[in-house]
Amino acid sequence: MGTTADDGAGPDPGMVNLMDPDLMADPFGGYGRLRERAPLLRGTFFGRGAPMWLATRYEDVKMVLGDHRFVNNPANVPGLDVQNIREREVEARGVPADLAEYVLDGILDADGADHIRLRRLVSRAFTARRVSELRPRVEQITEDLLDRLPATAEDGVAELIEHFAYPLPITVICELVGIPEEDRPRWRAWGKALVTLEAGGMGAALREMVAHIHELIGRRRAAPTGDLLTGLIRAHDEDGDRLGDTEMVTLVLALVLAGHETTAHLIGNGTAALLTHPDQLALLRSDPALMPRAVHELMRWCGPVQATRMRYAAEDVMVGGMPVGKGEAVMAVLVSANHDPRAFDDPERLDITREPEAGRKETHVGFGHGLHYCLGAALARQEAEVAFGALLRRFPDLSLAVAPEGLERELMPGSWRLARLPVKL
Ligand code: HEM
Repeated sequence: MGTTADDGAGPDPGMVNLMDPDLMADPFGGYGRLRERAPLLRGTFFGRGAPMWLATRYEDVKMVLGDHRFVNNPANVPGLDVQNIREREVEARGVPADLAEYVLDGILDADGADHIRLRRLVSRAFTARRVSELRPRVEQITEDLLDRLPATAEDGVAELIEHFAYPLPITVICELVGIPEEDRPRWRAWGKALVTLEAGGMGAALREMVAHIHELIGRRRAAPTGDLLTGLIRAHDEDGDRLGDTEMVTLVLALVLAGHETTAHLIGNGTAALLTHPDQLALLRSDPALMPRAVHELMRWCGPVQATRMRYAAEDVMVGGMPVGKGEAVMAVLVSANHDPRAFDDPERLDITREPEAGRKETHVGFGHGLHYCLGAALARQEAEVAFGALLRRFPDLSLAVAPEGLERELMPGSWRLARLPVKL
């Protein structure tokens, strides 16, 4: 495991560097070893800046995400130098200062009544009922993409990330929100620039996205439609509290970005997992009713989100028997919790029939836990179910076009993803 120098303080062998290529290439093994070292470890996200705590054990992850003594916004920790934290964040992420609020004041940064208000404004669009109403449209988009897939193949090999895993969720979320078809390729490029933290690319992409959403809001105000954007413009909660334009842009930004990158890589990781586990693939092909459980297990086994946003202790708290001081930051490492043998028997085994063991209610935390539990979980699960179902039905001989060890990962802290998934149809 690598170490990092902390702003001139010299390398600290006990400090986990979340940008360590070995850790990014093997987060399950890497965090697995860290998980056994101590309940909490010190780490830095960008290889510089103030260290944070990493919670890697299942119970501790759930505690940090579910306990009201942890908040998402450092401004809610009495006495903390919030300005300093914001400046560090802005600098670390390369965000231009005038765009900071779009990145630092979103739904994931809100606590208490602020969070409830924002969540209530959009949650209507993501209820189980609304999501099941969307199913026929998700199926149609999926079938259309699969119709076109063979034509994208070269020498019988199709690239599934590019031509299926990405276009499906981005089409779904853009339709839902109300982003016109001709603008969607730009969103994909912007999303990529943002998550890969391309040098200088993040600021530019963010500026274009923000301008684009402002422009769309203007268009919807003039000509309302039935999309989420129009709904947000009309929305006000029970107290008649309207959303400000900046808040609306920030919310739409979060929805579009959270709604496609993650789901795309669940589809990519999940397909690769099935293709490299022929027994599980055969089981699923023989009994498609297993699909919801299969998606649940794939989220546990190879979910695309490695860790949550940082949480801040609003007072001194004990986590896993270790003290976390007031104001200190903790990050919950989901991929590690999902492979914690304390919670899951034989956690490295992919088992699409897995059920919580008798007397143990544990389930995966790939969508987070607590008040900030993923708003789009039902939609993401549905997209994955439809995607895997149609892919397996339409291509009965689907197989990997490279050896499993030849699958190329895109190395990124926080995300577990394939760069490409070449398959024979
Ligand atoms: C929150 C994962 C798909 C919208 C979260 C969180 C996780 C997560 C782990 C909690 C982060 C934290 O507590 O710091 C995933 C995964 C997905 C997925 C693995 C796909 C496989 C989606 C989709 C949407 C979405 C499709 C929207 C359409 C959101 C939003 C939040 C969130 C708005 C913030 C909720 C809040 O702060 O109350 N997601 N997500 N996600 N997700 Fe997802």
